[in-house]
Amino acid sequence: MQLTPERDARPPLRVHRVEAPEVPFYRPDIGQEEIDEVVATLRAGWLTTGPRARRFEECFRAAVGARHAVALNSCTGALHLAVEALGLDAGAVVVVPTMTFAATAEVVRYRGAYPLLTDCDERTLHLDVADAERRLERWPGATDLAGNVVPERVAGVIPVHVAGSMMDLDGVSRLAERHRAWVVEDAAHAFPAAWRRTERNGWRRCGEGGSRVACFSFYANKTITTGEGGMAVTDDGELAERIRRLSLHGLTLGAADRYSQSGRPDYEITAPGYKYNLTDIAASLGIHQVARAESMRVRRQRIAERYLAAWHDLDELELPPVDPNRIHAWHLFPVRLHLERLDADRDQILVDLKERGVGCSVHWKPLHLHAYYRERYGWRPEDFPVATRVWRRLVSVPLFSAMSDAEVEHVAETVREVCRRHAR
Ligand SMILES: Cc1ncc(COP(=O)(O)O)c(C=O)c1O
Repeated sequence: MQLTPERDARPPLRVHRVEAPEVPFYRPDIGQEEIDEVVATLRAGWLTTGPRARRFEECFRAAVGARHAVALNSCTGALHLAVEALGLDAGAVVVVPTMTFAATAEVVRYRGAYPLLTDCDERTLHLDVADAERRLERWPGATDLAGNVVPERVAGVIPVHVAGSMMDLDGVSRLAERHRAWVVEDAAHAFPAAWRRTERNGWRRCGEGGSRVACFSFYANKTITTGEGGMAVTDDGELAERIRRLSLHGLTLGAADRYSQSGRPDYEITAPGYKYNLTDIAASLGIHQVARAESMRVRRQRIAERYLAAWHDLDELELPPVDPNRIHAWHLFPVRLHLERLDADRDQILVDLKERGVGCSVHWKPLHLHAYYRERYGWRPEDFPVATRVWRRLVSVPLFSAMSDAEVEHVAETVREVCRRHAR
């Protein structure tokens, strides 16, 4: 698949005005091909993991430029199996950003290991590598604020490509190398996406050899969807095999191997595995979503460009950064409110936007502010000053390829109107 850099010239978005529509936060972009493929799967009669799941893996593997891909029923499952296949156990620390979704850190807990939360970079919201270094100097071997002894051994780092813009993988790799740790990318938002070091370097796609494993999500609101679904990609064949086995109870043979005409009935249980395999029904969607992924990304990029142009002069908003060295998946469009210039807080702005037909969300309330991480590890808001400060300002507005031009204009106008209404 060809990714198209940001600055390619493309026709502008068409603009026409209609009566205020209701714009949901997200609506999936499902074409006739996906519908036909699901129907064909239902008619073929093989519903669970089988030939379509294999085809989906092959298309996805080729699209990101990885050697191996294992289709799973969520990105959470992919992250879990990646850290388990890499040998993560209790008694190790894993660096995890606090600015992320529950899944990134909970998979570390599934293994009984210690998720060492790290603050985020103010501009990008990515894991702050310098802050991670400071925490790694201080915490391993020390006692945390809830009285837990933080393990000495550092096993890994799980960076998150927030909103679909990849983080600098060189910085993460250096951090990991210094601690002889692995890197597993949480790429839930980042298909298709790419980065390059400088304009003189070539593009590297997300999933193309940046880390031991990269994990993608095909949840209903992601850039491509299978309803629920995920993919673990890696260049390491043995690791891929371990992940595949663990995804199906640790069995040596999957159902397709056992029940097909040429299949063998016996299998061996080699590990206490899980049930994370992707069905052929879901894979039927995925095969066609991968084929349309770049055209859907380009549509999201056009919409993002429209928002950037529409709001560039709004003093009440800070717009997301755009980097010439990134091909942005544009999964999310998170704006930040300048609260000192508004007479309302973020939650009131969300209410006003929703009342005017603009579905919004927040990505994210950082992990350290949630009950589990507060109580289990004793983290306080002031331990993560950037994430604590920034999340109160965050609003994610609708950005999805199935948006009509009228919906885009409705969001553009409504955000401006709500900001101006609350301007001090
Ligand atoms: C950053 C991040 N990681 C992981 C996940 C989990 O993805 P899934 O729902 O496919 O398990 C999400 C889901 O929204 C996410 O945003």
